Amino acid sequence: MYILGIESSCDETAAAIVKDGRTIVSSVVASQIDLHKKTGGVVPEVAARSHVEVVVPVIDEALRLAKMTPRDIDAIAVTYGPGLIPALLIGVDTARALAMAWKKPLVAVNHMAGHLHSFRVDPAAKKIQYPVLALLVSGGHTELLLLKNETSIKILGQTRDDAAGEAFDKVGKVLGLPYPGGPAVSRVALEGDATAFDLPRPMLKEDNLDFSFSGLKTAVIDVVREELGKRPSKKQVANLAASFQQAVVDVLVGKTLRAAKIVKPKLLVLGGGVAANTLLRESLKNAAAAVKLPFLVPPMNVCTDNAIMIAVAGSLLARKKKFTAPEKLQANPNLILT
Ligand code: KG4
Ligand code: ZN
Repeated sequence: MYILGIESSCDETAAAIVKDGRTIVSSVVASQIDLHKKTGGVVPEVAARSHVEVVVPVIDEALRLAKMTPRDIDAIAVTYGPGLIPALLIGVDTARALAMAWKKPLVAVNHMAGHLHSFRVDPAAKKIQYPVLALLVSGGHTELLLLKNETSIKILGQTRDDAAGEAFDKVGKVLGLPYPGGPAVSRVALEGDATAFDLPRPMLKEDNLDFSFSGLKTAVIDVVREELGKRPSKKQVANLAASFQQAVVDVLVGKTLRAAKIVKPKLLVLGGGVAANTLLRESLKNAAAAVKLPFLVPPMNVCTDNAIMIAVAGSLLARKKKFTAPEKLQANPNLILT
């Protein structure tokens, strides 16, 4: 079964073709990073205009790279939420039009389900034992989830304020780094000393599985104001970036281990844009190994927004014939994972 995935929920226009729910045939991502650098963040209407320009060429390119024609596609999977409504609408309308023109079934995919199931592209995911514990960390979400089987999802914990990616982005801005903050903070952190600043590890010791990152962000802002001043040195910025990154990773790893102790999963997976962070990937891998828990994280380009994950999650629904009639498909900016 070949699924064409389409993703346009934020600032990436992406299309991908995935075979049998796990083999990547082709993947194209048109990033709008350069466009949003000017404003230091995503302006929804600007993002939508760019999606309109590139969505059809991106889909064409995914077919060309796969050496396939629309006739070879079995179903079209598209992100219908959560995300920025003007951006989501472009992918949704395009998928609807293609499904009707090509006479293909349509699958509506939750963007976060895409991140959740992205680990399935790993060859080791061919045989999965449940329950699976998942840590999802993106620009808008920070969640610990329990997958009891392919489709039954239980939320164990989530952020009470900022998402991990959002905290990275805001700290990047405060440190004067370019958009998007996450990759920039982790890049300069490489040169820094993670013990230079004593930052809080919010909620790490609390007996629950929730997160909070806004206090940590405020602590960084306070350090910039009170200790670094208007013209911090490169070393100071690197040290603060490294100290912040370490604090986030300590909390994410600590809470995930706490969850693992409670739910005793057979597999731990990591997904979402922040899962592209090397320190987090390595720290969680080592922590899982220490408690002999199998661990999977997709390659970095399948962690940040892409359409492979939409095709992967879409194929789970397509296999169960959970299709959506084109005229019924509606973008939902506030969609939650159920
Ligand atoms: O999943 P994603 O691409 O989009 C959303 O669904 O939100 O996640 C984007 C987030 C942004 O906050 C970005 O700064 C963060 O992921 N991110 C990173 C890294 N790469 C992307 N955060 C930390 N380290 C990275 N290397
Ligand atoms: Zn995402």
